[in-house]
Amino acid sequence: MQTIRVGVVGAGILGTHHAQTCAANELAKVTGIADLRFEQAQKLADKVQATPYTTAEQMFAGEKIDLAVIATPDPFHKEPFLLAVDAGVKAILCEKPLATTTSDAEEMMLAADRAKVRVFVNYANRFAWLYMATHHIVQQGYIGKPVYGEARLDDNISVPYRLWGDRSKDWTSVSSTAHFLLTHVVDLLHWFFAPARVEAVYAIKHQEILGFTPDLYDGYLFWNNGMKSRVKAEWIKHIENLVEFYVCLGGATGSIVAHRRPGYGGREGWRAMLDSQLSTDAVQSAARWLSENDLPIKSQMIPDPTCGGEQQRGYLELEKPGERVDDDLFLQAVAEDTDTPSNWQGFGPLPSGEDGLKTVRVISALTASADTGQMVKLAGI
Ligand SMILES: NC(=O)c1ccc[n+]([C@@H]2O[C@H](COP(=O)([O-])OP(=O)(O)OC[C@H]3O[C@@H](n4cnc5c(N)ncnc54)[C@H](O)[C@@H]3O)[C@@H](O)[C@H]2O)c1
Repeated sequence: MQTIRVGVVGAGILGTHHAQTCAANELAKVTGIADLRFEQAQKLADKVQATPYTTAEQMFAGEKIDLAVIATPDPFHKEPFLLAVDAGVKAILCEKPLATTTSDAEEMMLAADRAKVRVFVNYANRFAWLYMATHHIVQQGYIGKPVYGEARLDDNISVPYRLWGDRSKDWTSVSSTAHFLLTHVVDLLHWFFAPARVEAVYAIKHQEILGFTPDLYDGYLFWNNGMKSRVKAEWIKHIENLVEFYVCLGGATGSIVAHRRPGYGGREGWRAMLDSQLSTDAVQSAARWLSENDLPIKSQMIPDPTCGGEQQRGYLELEKPGERVDDDLFLQAVAEDTDTPSNWQGFGPLPSGEDGLKTVRVISALTASADTGQMVKLAGI
């Protein structure tokens, strides 16, 4: 198999992560690193034995690259993305969100589609066990028809003030909790509930504490299968952790709660109460599938609280939280020239550029709704 030549644009937190992951993988070799802050490019290039550049343009002119990794701040993905397409790369791994405006995202995907460049968006939450388990249980219909979902993804208030050092205010003032955080939530919900799509949104934002970017967005998503969900993301949370993520999904016949990195001493965990009509064998078989996919699942039949405890129903629990540690899914997909690599079976394709575009459309609608106070319908639904 030919070594995948990787070029990384943006040598910050995520660019460093991707460059080191690729450098440690025998499928790939990092050849170029570009960053407008050249000293950052140089530092990272030294670590992974690549050539440093100041601009993406210089890097694509100087290197033959198969996989371009775009890890610039949220609104600045388009320029390096289009340069990568023009340079003839095979694939692009773009950080989330694909873009901060629908027009940018559409232009990017049009160019990629025309040039037949495979695009992935790094919605890394999909690789956490809690959400992999959620995806399987919802997609198999084990909680019945999806009815309602609630998802809150909050960052510690230190994120907008300090995560990017003295660049933090500038960084977050051109993004928002909608673009930076809710993008994960919207992607996860689309993945869980596929093929359902969001057809309308209503949202509010609050601006009191930070001043340079909204404190929070809080909104409702209305889905074309009748489901409704609430999504909320703050940048003003006073918690001991950097981030807290809570998802609770209600189906017609069961529910799931996934709590990742809870604050205030809460315990991380994932539980699902399955459809009461499922037999013991069916519950065990659901648990077995998850275990075979390396998720440490405990299954039991418990007295059904919804009918006074006289009957038993299936109850699943993730024994310990975690996520896939082998970080080579995207490289494997490029090596195999597929959206669904052999080491990611049973959970659908990896998050794609189309998924990224769909999410940008929803986030743009959420921010427009919060700006106008009106419900916003998504075009083309
Ligand atoms: N997938 C995830 O879970 C996850 C987590 C955090 C951040 N992110 C995303 O990753 C992206 C990067 O975030 P980060 O925290 O690494 O930011 P960062 O500021 O640490 O790094 C971005 C780097 O890009 C450089 N840069 C800016 N414009 C450039 C350009 N046109 N050409 C070359 N270099 C340029 C900056 O100098 C900086 O060094 C963002 O879109 C962010 O939302 C994803």
